[in-house]
Amino acid sequence: MLSWEEYNTEEAIAPAVPKAQPAVVAETATPQPEPAVAPPGNDISKGVAADAEAAAIMAENVERAKSAIDQIDVAPGLEELEMGAARVSVDEKAMINCRADLNQLVPFKYDWAWQKYIDGCANHWMPQEINMTADVATWKDPEGLSDDERRIVMRSLGYFSTADSLVANNLVLAIYKLITNPECRQYLLRQAFEEAIHTHAYQYCIESLGMDEGEVFNMYREVPSVAAKATWSLSHTHSLSDPNFRTGTLETDQELLRNLIGFYCVTEGIFFYCGFTQILSMGRRNKMTGVAEQFQYILRDESMHLNFGIDVINQIKLENPQLWTSEFQQEVIQMILEGTELEIAYARDTMPRGVLGMNAAMMEEYLQFICNRRLTQVGLPEQFPGAQNPFPWMSEIMDLRKEKNFFETRVIEYQTGGALSWD
Ligand SMILES: [Fe+2]
Ligand SMILES: [Fe+2]
Repeated sequence: MLSWEEYNTEEAIAPAVPKAQPAVVAETATPQPEPAVAPPGNDISKGVAADAEAAAIMAENVERAKSAIDQIDVAPGLEELEMGAARVSVDEKAMINCRADLNQLVPFKYDWAWQKYIDGCANHWMPQEINMTADVATWKDPEGLSDDERRIVMRSLGYFSTADSLVANNLVLAIYKLITNPECRQYLLRQAFEEAIHTHAYQYCIESLGMDEGEVFNMYREVPSVAAKATWSLSHTHSLSDPNFRTGTLETDQELLRNLIGFYCVTEGIFFYCGFTQILSMGRRNKMTGVAEQFQYILRDESMHLNFGIDVINQIKLENPQLWTSEFQQEVIQMILEGTELEIAYARDTMPRGVLGMNAAMMEEYLQFICNRRLTQVGLPEQFPGAQNPFPWMSEIMDLRKEKNFFETRVIEYQTGGALSWD
């Protein structure tokens, strides 16, 4: 628990530096830059003049700051709002191209976005909380895993270690500025931090297992089935990350929708599913349980990212029905099918034969089932009628609640650790 006494203690230590012994301090201290004004020497009149000059410079600095404050015109700083304009009403808020003040969180228009922000915070976790000891022993034991199992661990860490960075960069460099709603931006900030935690988790696994970091982090440029997925995602970031990109026309608003579908429905909604299923299947067989537990918490976060993205996409469609033309719908179906094909190719590459009770054919059906889900979630028709879920246990894992297993105690500690004590 934090206490203000800690701060008082630090302050109490500061004056205890032996002022009377400057020579000792000078010997041990980091070299300091030359002072702006030369210290007074033997010539007293020179010293007085230097002091007067320094005082004049300081007075001038203060005057310059005061004068700058006097000249501030508050209106342009508030995104073109006029001083004294009417307060923001719920009806003025919109998902894109909103003209209302974006610095006012309330009143909420999209309660679901705020609720997801609250839920995301309640699910907070950190990679170091997960015990990796058994994984290290298994990974280092030549008999610990088969070659096929090792390939799955390597490929998963290779894809995900950079994929979450692609998602995070897309969030902050492309999507954030274009989603003109404060409660959604609040969730986007939470999601961006969760993506950082995910990248941290992969790095933590790679480091714990003593893998070749260069090999793993460069897989998205060197292994074709990994590179194809990363390239597909990146192709949907390019136009939006241009600093001159603006929404407000049919074409640019549709381009934003393409990005949201490319990242939420395909990258986070399809590209993560083969790797997640493989690693979680490993965990269910009591192998690499630490890595599997990391993935379990990541998957819980990701399913919320996906649901948030679906809600944003559907809200944009509702507010801007002119964007959802039959031609555009066909394009979206094509995008989701492309993502599914890339993930099926990844499944074949990572599972050349049966492993962990699954094989590429089962994964193909699972991905067709997932593809149908993504299409119907945005109001489009299924493309693989009758596709079944061969891995029903995946749904149970996604519904994992924070109260379960080790997390029970950690959550309580976070809550008390964050509280200030006034005693
Ligand atoms: Fe992530
Ligand atoms: Fe995500």
